[in-house]
Amino acid sequence: MKVDVILGLQWGDEGKGKIVDYLAKDYDLVARFQGGPNAGHTLKFDGLKFVLHTVPSGIFRPHLTNLIGNGVVIDPITLEKEIEGLKAVNVDYKDRLLVSKKAHLILPTHRSLDAASEAAKGKEKIGSTLRGIGPTYMDKTGRNGLRVGDILLDNFEEKYNALKEKHLGLLKLYPESNFDLEGEEKKWFESLKTLRSLKQVDGEYFINNALKSGKKILAEGAQGSMLDIDFGTYPFVTSSNTVTAGVCIGLGIAPSKIGEVIGISKAYCTRVGAGPFPTELHDEMGDFLRKEGMEFGATTGRPRRCGWIDLVQLRYTIMLNGVTQLVVTKIDVLNNFSEIKASTNYLSEGKKINQLPYDLSNVSVDPVYKSYEGWNKSLDGITEYDEMPSTLKAYIDELEKELEVPVTIVSTGPERQELVMKGVAI
Ligand code: GDP
Ligand code: IMO
Ligand code: MG
Repeated sequence: MKVDVILGLQWGDEGKGKIVDYLAKDYDLVARFQGGPNAGHTLKFDGLKFVLHTVPSGIFRPHLTNLIGNGVVIDPITLEKEIEGLKAVNVDYKDRLLVSKKAHLILPTHRSLDAASEAAKGKEKIGSTLRGIGPTYMDKTGRNGLRVGDILLDNFEEKYNALKEKHLGLLKLYPESNFDLEGEEKKWFESLKTLRSLKQVDGEYFINNALKSGKKILAEGAQGSMLDIDFGTYPFVTSSNTVTAGVCIGLGIAPSKIGEVIGISKAYCTRVGAGPFPTELHDEMGDFLRKEGMEFGATTGRPRRCGWIDLVQLRYTIMLNGVTQLVVTKIDVLNNFSEIKASTNYLSEGKKINQLPYDLSNVSVDPVYKSYEGWNKSLDGITEYDEMPSTLKAYIDELEKELEVPVTIVSTGPERQELVMKGVAI
């Protein structure tokens, strides 16, 4: 068996949670492999809405096991809150939610450092979610981090205090803030009780054994490829590898074990936080997309920047990830347009280019747009791809041609069932 992968091909919020929740019905295990509570994955079904941050989006499928992999960074406080939310709707998570011992812990002082570092950057700030992601991954690669497995050690508090002292030293480099360390620490230690109650596993053995015994596994990406620490719009990125290669590192599986790579793109494009975004619309069209698509961050509530779909950018992330199939979400947001645009190339210093420049933050590129006829009608009630308006199908055909990957699912609304299969996804 192989591990199929679902990940975002843009700057995050492509609708990964919805698609994972839908496809999870056909899997035995869903695993998160990177990121942490900076993620906000929205699931809607049976009149309920959930935003998951750390817990994999397979948790609402009772037959299935969910693994928080070693590549994830965990804030026990956020995790506890999520679990409280699950308990409130009687989701039986015990024995179905496993945590890798090698996943790193976000300490309160990581959050304080994140805030201090962002504040110090002034106009240059990244627009971090302030969840402590950057400082935690820094401690991981700096070989100072605390891991989930450490909470069972006798000297855990000693380790915690050593790291906290290091952080307090670093915080002296920044102006004083009003971070309530004492209060946050109290909450943090209390929330460890919930983390301790979860089954801790050697994730790499667990997942490879599951593969051997024929289990169907889905890896759930967080963020998007344009936020990847190596290949995203650096430094306006997150601190983990969000691309397919991150699955191997973040779960402990070999590259040869990767199966389908399902890339998700919105029918347009959004970004939350700072950084370059060539097709961003600063006009009423951008405002319309934000309103129609309800583009406000699932984690921070910030308004998302909106623009047209960018095929130069998508070709890049399809290449990086080895995408085998594409899922197009939020197509319904374009229902009322008579014309839709997609950037097929950029103009840079008068030259047409087809490749992302080294540093999009420092060069100005002008997207070259191609126009497509809109369908100008509601998609309500459409359940078969054949019933879709012919102009919509022509647009999807064009995307397939331009991007050289088949589209297998078109999502037509936020609810679990609001999607149309165009091909065989798995
Ligand atoms: P994720 O981080 O990739 O899981 O995406 P988010 O949950 O942050 O943002 C996606 C938003 O779009 C959520 O509010 C979803 O409920 C919503 N959504 C997902 N798919 C569709 C769709 O096809 N149409 C519409 N209108 N909304 C969708
Ligand atoms: P999901 O999984 C959209 C963005 C932040 C900021 C940058 C760095 O829901 O798609 P960080 O807190 O990681 O240090 O912030 O990355 N960002 C996201 N944007 N969706 C996300 O996750 C994001 N996670 C981080 O806005 O620009
Ligand atoms: Mg999100």
